[in-house]
Amino acid sequence: MERMVIGGRQRVSGELHVQGSKNLALPVLCACLLIPEPVVLTHCPLLSDVEETLAMLQTLGVFVKREGHTVFCDAKDAAPAKLSKEVTQGNRMSILLLGAMLSRFGCGEISYPGGCRIGKRPLDLHEQVFSRFGAELIALNDEMWACRKRRSAARISLPYPSVGATQNAILCACLSEGVSEISGAAKEPEVAGLCRFLIGAGAKIRGVGTSKLLIEGVKGLRGTRFAIEGDRIVAGTYLTAAAMSGGECLLHGVSPNRLGSYLEFLRRLGCEVSAKDESIRLRAPERLTSGLSVKTEPYPGFPTDLQPMAVGALCVARGDANVEETIFEERFAAAREMQKFGARLCIAPPNVSIHGVEKHFGARVQGRDLRGSAALLLMALCAQGESILEGVEYLNRGYEDIVRDMALLGCADIRKEEKKWGSYE
Ligand code: UD1
Repeated sequence: MERMVIGGRQRVSGELHVQGSKNLALPVLCACLLIPEPVVLTHCPLLSDVEETLAMLQTLGVFVKREGHTVFCDAKDAAPAKLSKEVTQGNRMSILLLGAMLSRFGCGEISYPGGCRIGKRPLDLHEQVFSRFGAELIALNDEMWACRKRRSAARISLPYPSVGATQNAILCACLSEGVSEISGAAKEPEVAGLCRFLIGAGAKIRGVGTSKLLIEGVKGLRGTRFAIEGDRIVAGTYLTAAAMSGGECLLHGVSPNRLGSYLEFLRRLGCEVSAKDESIRLRAPERLTSGLSVKTEPYPGFPTDLQPMAVGALCVARGDANVEETIFEERFAAAREMQKFGARLCIAPPNVSIHGVEKHFGARVQGRDLRGSAALLLMALCAQGESILEGVEYLNRGYEDIVRDMALLGCADIRKEEKKWGSYE
């Protein structure tokens, strides 16, 4: 168990290259199961979620090797195997690997995926996708078994643009016989990125980045090399840190359009944001101005993964605001914890109303999920006095080394401590 001790009143000032995207690396790794040839992934982030996904691939007989940020995979000798709870509980990728197994082997068996507790996270849309591709499903005691008797293409209309269900439909369609049509598809950059990876391996996909994908099945996919793009949520986190602390930063390696409407949100708070090619610069005013009402939406709308950070920014801004969470209804664990810093919030899911307060004070807080823990770290940087953040292990799921990155951005007064039982109160 680790905790972080964070000095208060730290102002962000600096520049860095943003790590590779977790949410793109994970589905791309799952898609490697479809390719019986060597694949090279560069700029692959060093994260516990990635390591756990590599372990699941190994269980399925995939050769994997990592050298720094480069990952080599070869699924030539892959074979069906059950993904048991020990390997599936860390993240949500077992459900995508079930789609990949159905595509490559025609059958698969998994324990239900773990991941952050940010709402109900049902799997009904994934099940609909598998059924449309001809799979028979048995779900019992948190385990799911699926078997596909035919390999024919499917027409699917998703009632909600789920990122994961769209990615599963893509995985199933690539090696099916005929042309599959997926309408109501999610348009997130991580869906488009998965398509680009598969196209590089020989898949035939049209409509990339739109809500209607047409996928002509091919007989087999070939080895390829692919660079994982910069992580838009990590970029959004650091931009928000600069905004909240009255600082400035320059981030490289992320296309500004990947942040959807989030850059506009930061501008409305009073920040100067300029973007060029793959770089984003932000300069914040001494104090942000609020008076906003925002709601999370599928891409290109306001991203739910940045909602906890946005709530943090509105806590320190001048004025009143309202944030509506339309995607994960229980994603307010961090907002509740922010009250310990002195934040004035009224949480009534799916809404949180916020009265901005100028001064916050160091506190001992508990992170309960990945993005929420990052938001609490940002609050701690702005507060007066030292804070203690517990639940640091969540951060390792999505941030390669947030202490290193914050030091590069001028906030060096953060240290990690190992929690030994009885060693501190
Ligand atoms: C992905 C991202 C996650 C992000 C989310 C929304 C990864 C690894 N994770 O998660 O960081 O927060 O997109 O942008 O890429 N739903 C159902 N039934 C289903 C599937 C989903 O009702 O079968 C609902 C969910 O409960 C949620 C909404 O659809 O309310 C969005 O979920 P989805 O887009 O599937 O998110 P994930 O792919 O799990």
